[in-house]
Amino acid sequence: MSLVLDDVTLTYPDGEGRLTALDAVSLTVPAGTLTAVVGPSGSGKSSLLAVAATLVTPDSGRVAVAGTDTGVLTAAAKAELRREHIGIVFQQPNLLPSLSALEQLQVMAHLSGRAPKSFRGRAGDLLDAVGLADQAHRRPHQLSGGQRQRVNIARALMNEPSVLLVDEPTSALDHERGAAVMDLLATLTAERGTATVLVTHDRTHLARTDRTVTVQDGRLTDSVRA
Ligand SMILES: Nc1ncnc2c1ncn2[C@@H]1O[C@H](COP(=O)(O)OP(=O)(O)OP(=O)(O)O)[C@@H](O)[C@H]1O
Ligand SMILES: [Mg+2]
Repeated sequence: MSLVLDDVTLTYPDGEGRLTALDAVSLTVPAGTLTAVVGPSGSGKSSLLAVAATLVTPDSGRVAVAGTDTGVLTAAAKAELRREHIGIVFQQPNLLPSLSALEQLQVMAHLSGRAPKSFRGRAGDLLDAVGLADQAHRRPHQLSGGQRQRVNIARALMNEPSVLLVDEPTSALDHERGAAVMDLLATLTAERGTATVLVTHDRTHLARTDRTVTVQDGRLTDSVRA
């Protein structure tokens, strides 16, 4: 199930006028592939993710998530689509301080209203997949930055999303740990068949992506591989 942005334009109010954050952006991300988005600060990268996540409604254009055209959905239907189909990883892992790694994942399944029986096994499998099987009972303050980001990624995959949106997952990590997180995302994308979009500043992390696009002043172009 893919992600499709078709001719998407997004503006924000800016003094007397409007600021164009996304300018006629079209992007198709097939299932099981990883697209990296690079570009200068303020170019529109996070805006692109916000539109893909259905958190922000564009002025014009079409956003389709897992075959559903989101333009016709009510706010409630969008919230349900996010719960069921979209995994989001923000730059700072916003983990709950009092919960263990395992519990952070189990909370997600509770929110989706899925059968409790399947929670624990799936949460354990995902922690295993991100290399944290032996840290499952640690709370965030007992984990390193890289480990916290891996919990964050595992949590985003808890509800088996079709689309995985990741904003600068490596910016708080040193190079080696950043590379490990990138490897992990590439592997999970292929294994779990997500349509993954990843914003990154670090061009040295682009070796394992299927495609890299550049955003500049809200316009999207294909990048030549670094
Ligand atoms: N809620 C908002 N209201 C008004 N303007 C906004 C809002 N969010 C972003 N912008 C503006 O839209 C443009 C694109 O912002 P965006 O956050 O998408 O950039 P970015 O590429 O993610 O930057 P960075 O690399 O610094 O995170 C910027 O000029 C920004 O100031
Ligand atoms: Mg940003």
